[in-house]
Amino acid sequence: MRPNLLILGGTTEASALARVVAGRDIPAVLSYAGRVDRPKPQPIPTRSGGFGGVAGLRAWLRDNAVTHVVDATHPFAAQMSRNAADACAAEGVPLIALTRPAWDEQPGDRWQRVADIPAAVDALAGPARRVMLAVGRMHLDAFAAQPQHFYLLRLVDAPDTPPPLSDHVAVISRGPFTQAGDRALMQEHAIDLVVSKNAGGTGARAKIDAARALNLPVLMIDRPALPVRPECATPDQVLDWLAHSGVNLGV
Ligand SMILES: NC(=O)c1ccc[n+]([C@@H]2O[C@H](COP(=O)([O-])OP(=O)(O)OC[C@H]3O[C@@H](n4cnc5c(N)ncnc54)[C@H](OP(=O)(O)O)[C@@H]3O)[C@@H](O)[C@H]2O)c1
Repeated sequence: MRPNLLILGGTTEASALARVVAGRDIPAVLSYAGRVDRPKPQPIPTRSGGFGGVAGLRAWLRDNAVTHVVDATHPFAAQMSRNAADACAAEGVPLIALTRPAWDEQPGDRWQRVADIPAAVDALAGPARRVMLAVGRMHLDAFAAQPQHFYLLRLVDAPDTPPPLSDHVAVISRGPFTQAGDRALMQEHAIDLVVSKNAGGTGARAKIDAARALNLPVLMIDRPALPVRPECATPDQVLDWLAHSGVNLGV
């Protein structure tokens, strides 16, 4: 049997897997949530937008004769990961997650760990600070509850409506970011606190390394609970998993 993959993407890791499966001529579609204006071009077909919950994803798997699903979404995309686990279980489609380990505190780090976004908002109570808020566009509204701070935002696209943060600067960039670049950005805006999700991986790590280099505290938001599913860490391990599931990967 030839495989026909659905890759749930929106991450550096999903793009790396897309390159590997394209290089091997393995049929696959990469799915985006459709949250950014110009998603990164890919060497395999893409689709964009929600499936319509578990029922919608089940129908999509059937209609497109998907043989395997790779959940390569961001570790904070918990809803999509839950839907994928439920839909694959219901349709009998094998699922693997391509994941990255969470970041751990290194010598020199000054982290305060919090459980989730509401806890991060609560932890910001107190005198005005200059905060680099690197949590993505979706959660900015929650921080309006702490309006006393200056917020430095970094966003992939310019927002359609200004975030409800009275004192902020938005830098529009999709990276890649470097430690030196992030250090310079933090110094330019006199940042004294960084708020970050514990994304793990390399794509978003520059700001954490920059905060350590500048001896800045980091409010680190822990990952949400994710469904239990088989996991692997590299695109090659995804290919191994496919090969062991008995499909024909060609030469
Ligand atoms: N959360 C982050 O911090 C973060 C950071 C970087 C990149 N991303 C990427 O951005 C996307 C959205 O993340 P999120 O945290 O908003 O997700 P989420 O809260 O887990 O998902 C909300 C809904 O968005 C749709 N969706 C999410 N990912 C999708 C995908 N890859 N393809 C098709 N539909 C998708 C699904 O809609 P339906 O129920 O209608 O199917 C899902 O129920 C994901 O692809 C993720 O990998 C997220």
